[in-house]
Amino acid sequence: MKETPSETRTRPTHADLSFQRCISPACGATYGIDEVRVACEKCGNLLDVMYDWDRLEVPASLKVFEEKWARRADPHCFSGVWRFHELLPFAPVDQCVTVGEGQTLLHRCDSVAQYVGLKPGRLLLEYEGMNPSGSFKDNGMSAAFTHARLTGAARAACASTGNTSASLALYCSVSRLMKAVIFVGSGKIAYGKLSQALDFGALTVQISGDFDDAMARVQEVSRELGLYLVNSVNPFRLEGQKTIMYRVLEKLRWEVPDWIVVPGGNLGNSSAFGKAFFELHQLGLIDRIPRMAVINATGASTLYDLVEKCGLRWNRGSPDLETVKQYYQEMDAQQRRASTIASAIEINRPVNLYKCIRALEVCNGLVRQASDQEIMDAKAQVGAGGLGCEPASAASVAGTRLLVSEGLIGPDERVVCILTGHQLKDPNATVAYHTTDQELFNKVLGSHGVSRAAYANRAVAVPNDLDEIIKAIRLYS
Ligand code: F0G
Repeated sequence: MKETPSETRTRPTHADLSFQRCISPACGATYGIDEVRVACEKCGNLLDVMYDWDRLEVPASLKVFEEKWARRADPHCFSGVWRFHELLPFAPVDQCVTVGEGQTLLHRCDSVAQYVGLKPGRLLLEYEGMNPSGSFKDNGMSAAFTHARLTGAARAACASTGNTSASLALYCSVSRLMKAVIFVGSGKIAYGKLSQALDFGALTVQISGDFDDAMARVQEVSRELGLYLVNSVNPFRLEGQKTIMYRVLEKLRWEVPDWIVVPGGNLGNSSAFGKAFFELHQLGLIDRIPRMAVINATGASTLYDLVEKCGLRWNRGSPDLETVKQYYQEMDAQQRRASTIASAIEINRPVNLYKCIRALEVCNGLVRQASDQEIMDAKAQVGAGGLGCEPASAASVAGTRLLVSEGLIGPDERVVCILTGHQLKDPNATVAYHTTDQELFNKVLGSHGVSRAAYANRAVAVPNDLDEIIKAIRLYS
């Protein structure tokens, strides 16, 4: 039926049906969807993107999304983020920015299942390294860019351990919508990631200090210069990252797994996953919520310490703020700084701490820490199992192994580990693990307490002589 002009005028827009809201139930302040904010003006807490689901068209079943597969010539149906537009409808679909993100695999990997102690078929690796910039960040970046475009931003900024900056730089170079300004801790970013930011043409500011220093500075500078901040304090980033879970469900033909295991750094992913499952359950699109395990590196264990040692809980919106304050005071007094080979998650003060503990409440979750030795061994197993990943990603596999050995995950349970970033992001760590050069091993890994490489695949040195080469191949293959 054709609409009359007056009907068109009265139909609610996306701006009427979505808004931003403070995560603190005691505050609950709301803001328009078109406002650029990374914190509540009244109480300083983080913000959520919220929807008036009752007035939106929500699919009756997740199966409805399968219809989009037949329409993949349309970039918004092809996108692994925007084909779920109905579940993050803060902007009209034709305004949503896409560079083809989210074409990921859920890879059944029985060799890694055996390594962690699960039965064949029970371990699945969600391979986010297949994204255009090689990490899961592109899911969130497409959503943040969409919001930035709605607000007319001209420049975007982030602090990063490398992947956010690579993703921001890529979205700027492909879309031409904004200019990228990135802050990185000097010497704190893996070369693969730095090379991306430079190659994509981002203004790269290397500050002396670590990620936390860069994070604090970028917030100041963004306020001062009116730069659009794309770190995961930006609630729109997390809307995009919810879709990682939608794709996991999609590949399981909408069956909910028993566990989601994810590395924890700034805690954007874990927060987004909790929101995704809470909403799906609230909308009646899933009948149960999986458990979630967040895995810290032992050298960057703020979440683990606070949740598992100090007993910090979301407590339905009233977390014990004093515990957190004291923890950070001690951290500063003792000058403890995060240090791990998994540089992507080398973070002291995760900005999404409170959203993450809320997600742990939603998902009956828990936190574990994995040492750099465990992370590097798990990474070698992931590589040998057919999909490579960077060190931080392998924390999910190392953590799963720990939880199986503790009896918390049963061998029959279906577990999805999120492989957050591509193997080529950090070739130094990989080469150092497999090397025969002890000096290189010590420099890159020994300094992080890694003492052996039990799963190393060492290169074979042979003279440039046909007989010797053939002899070596016969001997080793
Ligand atoms: N894995 C990889 C490969 C990452 O790059 C990050 C975060 C994480 C895991 C942690 O995810 O913050 O959602 O808990 N990297 C950020 C960056 C901090 O700047 O690229 P999180």
